[in-house]
Amino acid sequence: MKAVRIHELGDPSVLKYEDAPDPQPKPGEVLIKVEAVSMNFADVGRRSGRYGGGTPTFPIALGLDGAGTITAVGEGVEDRSVGQRVAFFGPSYAEYTTIASGSTAKIPDGVSSEAAACVPVTFGTAWYCLKEATELKSTEHTLVQAGGSGVGTAAIQIAKYIAKDGGKVVTTAGSEEKCRKALELGADVAINYTTQDLVEEAKKATGGKGVDVVLESVGGEVYKKSLEAMAPGGRLVSIGRTGGEVPEVGQDYLSQRGISAIRFGFGTLRNERMVEVRGQIEMLMMLIKMGLFKVVIDSTYPLSEAAAAHRHLEDRKAFGKVVLIP
Ligand SMILES: NC(=O)c1ccc[n+]([C@@H]2O[C@H](COP(=O)([O-])OP(=O)(O)OC[C@H]3O[C@@H](n4cnc5c(N)ncnc54)[C@H](OP(=O)(O)O)[C@@H]3O)[C@@H](O)[C@H]2O)c1
Repeated sequence: MKAVRIHELGDPSVLKYEDAPDPQPKPGEVLIKVEAVSMNFADVGRRSGRYGGGTPTFPIALGLDGAGTITAVGEGVEDRSVGQRVAFFGPSYAEYTTIASGSTAKIPDGVSSEAAACVPVTFGTAWYCLKEATELKSTEHTLVQAGGSGVGTAAIQIAKYIAKDGGKVVTTAGSEEKCRKALELGADVAINYTTQDLVEEAKKATGGKGVDVVLESVGGEVYKKSLEAMAPGGRLVSIGRTGGEVPEVGQDYLSQRGISAIRFGFGTLRNERMVEVRGQIEMLMMLIKMGLFKVVIDSTYPLSEAAAAHRHLEDRKAFGKVVLIP
């Protein structure tokens, strides 16, 4: 089969579209014919080595999630069968992949493989951050940093859905065009954080109060400004460092301001609670089928053009998800 793998860390040119061994499902696994690959910023981090994690064993099969159809099941698999369409957590930059059956979620009829592929990591992270990590309430104001990121486009919609009793959804992006698209998606206010004062604008948007919940993924100065934009009682959840390192913040500063800040790793959570998480992923796909949420797909590329797709993401050109098609 064909797969995109890396044999060294580096720029997008290290992504090699090449022959790889046909995978066979082990006990407890299913074999999936991949129909759509969700690209995540973490793939860029892994490819470039920016996300650390010790010395990798090459070749690395990239990808955190995707969607496709089960073509074979391993010994002992009873909850999945050949022909089922599933979204999954696991390596996806390939024509076929083997995944633990427990890490797959059934796709409802009417949801495309492209959309389903983008649900596990992107919608899953946004959902758990807002529902569980920060316990966003229906009257509270949210700040979604990088509203044009995959996670950002999901989070804007989820925050709007939860904060239905007057909570505002404020978001940020690096261009006027992305701000306009974020407003179209449902954000109440979109701030261009390359030209506007984020703290001042977020305060203005919330009647001077500040935001109650922040979903932060950019790091550096944006992280610091997020804290400044918060109201007493506010909760910040940090999931990434796309634009800079996450600064260390003193407990004294947090307690004086009456705010809290945590870091969140969806990978660890889902490894511990996979049965529940896959149920939530199936529920999110149902909400997408019902039209409550939409998966914003910026562009699709053939899997063989993964390098161009990575460049597009790194150049900050995407609004929403970039999807690869094997
Ligand atoms: N902790 C977890 O479990 C978890 C799970 C999922 C994602 N994440 C993290 O969440 C973040 C978003 O992930 P994603 O896959 O949704 O990202 P994505 O779609 O690739 O979007 C990343 C966004 O970051 C912004 N950005 C700011 N500075 C940037 C820079 N120097 N280079 C590139 N982009 C920059 C860009 O928006 P503007 O151009 O508008 O600034 C871009 O739209 C990443 O940091 C990712 O690692 C963490």
